[in-house]
Amino acid sequence: MMKAMLQEGYGSSEMLRLVDRVIPEPGPGEVTVEVAAAGLDAGLVHLLEGRPFPVRLAMPLRGGRVLGLDCAGTVHAVGEGVTDYAVGDKVFGVTVTGDGALAENARASTAKLAPKPRGLSFIEAAAIPVSATTALRAVRDAAGVQSGQRVLVLGAAGGVGHFAVQIAKNLGAEVIGACSTGKLQLVRSIGADQVIDYTTGDPLKEGPFDAIIDTGGHRRLRQLRRALQPTGALVLVGAEPEAAPLGGMGRSLAAALLNPFTRQKLVMLASSEDRQALLDLTELVDRGALRPVIHRTASLEEAPEAITGLGRGSGTAKTVVELQQI
Ligand SMILES: NC(=O)c1ccc[n+]([C@@H]2O[C@H](COP(=O)([O-])OP(=O)(O)OC[C@H]3O[C@@H](n4cnc5c(N)ncnc54)[C@H](OP(=O)(O)O)[C@@H]3O)[C@@H](O)[C@H]2O)c1
Repeated sequence: MMKAMLQEGYGSSEMLRLVDRVIPEPGPGEVTVEVAAAGLDAGLVHLLEGRPFPVRLAMPLRGGRVLGLDCAGTVHAVGEGVTDYAVGDKVFGVTVTGDGALAENARASTAKLAPKPRGLSFIEAAAIPVSATTALRAVRDAAGVQSGQRVLVLGAAGGVGHFAVQIAKNLGAEVIGACSTGKLQLVRSIGADQVIDYTTGDPLKEGPFDAIIDTGGHRRLRQLRRALQPTGALVLVGAEPEAAPLGGMGRSLAAALLNPFTRQKLVMLASSEDRQALLDLTELVDRGALRPVIHRTASLEEAPEAITGLGRGSGTAKTVVELQQI
């Protein structure tokens, strides 16, 4: 048996309950990971709240699930057909939804795992998968950032944003990071060339930019496009507007519809994790070009409160739940 954080319905963290549960068996192509640390991110808040509504269709609750995605730990059992991992291997990556990472053991497809970076603790490794993969997809793949370009990261101190700053710097860009007052020092410490407090100044006035990576603030498309070069790239990663029925998705859909009719590249990002992205991120970590900032750690018992503490679109770097003292 194991301890696990079960989501029993849609809503706030009151829908989460710490339960005893049978350790899951790995399916074909899967392993069971003995979880040492589980990273939290905005996606878990969406799964918990069932908002925006399409989340309920894409990942239905079906009577309850163990919440969690990002994990780092040790392979506990291997499923049928698994040849690239053995019991005892240290890994990091993303668990299957349903038997998620907020548990002492979780199921994961080997297609979404990689060996844990040697230079990182389990806590640091668990901070990487979803947020850093999203940043990699946004900066390198969607925006195609090149050396010498000017890149604005909105939400530069957030879970995705603080990785985006580092990835854009590594590609040789001049990086301008926007965040609120209390986070200026964090954004400076990860290498941004210029940091703008969006509560006292308008980061869009510093344009034109070759790329804007938007992870917070839900600014209007028109304003963002005005701050872009005529052939610049706008990557809409996400936003958390209170009132919009589709959350930040409505604006992203509008951008995708407009994209064929403009020389600017307008991208609605739909990130997904895989082994290759985890290996690419490991290579950056090994070269000293990427490091997660751990804002807070919590125990499994504290996980509901830590998820609430992420806020909606106001997070700071990464919060990680520690399951075993390593
Ligand atoms: N498209 C995808 O595949 C994908 C993947 C992962 C995440 N997401 C989405 O991307 C968004 C960011 O995720 P995350 O985990 O990085 O969230 P997060 O940790 O909450 O970061 C968002 C950041 O934006 C900042 N922010 C808020 N208003 C701002 C404004 N007006 N101007 C500039 N910055 C502002 C926030 O803090 P301060 O206001 O204090 O500066 C916060 O640091 C979420 O909506 C998430 O759901 C999408």
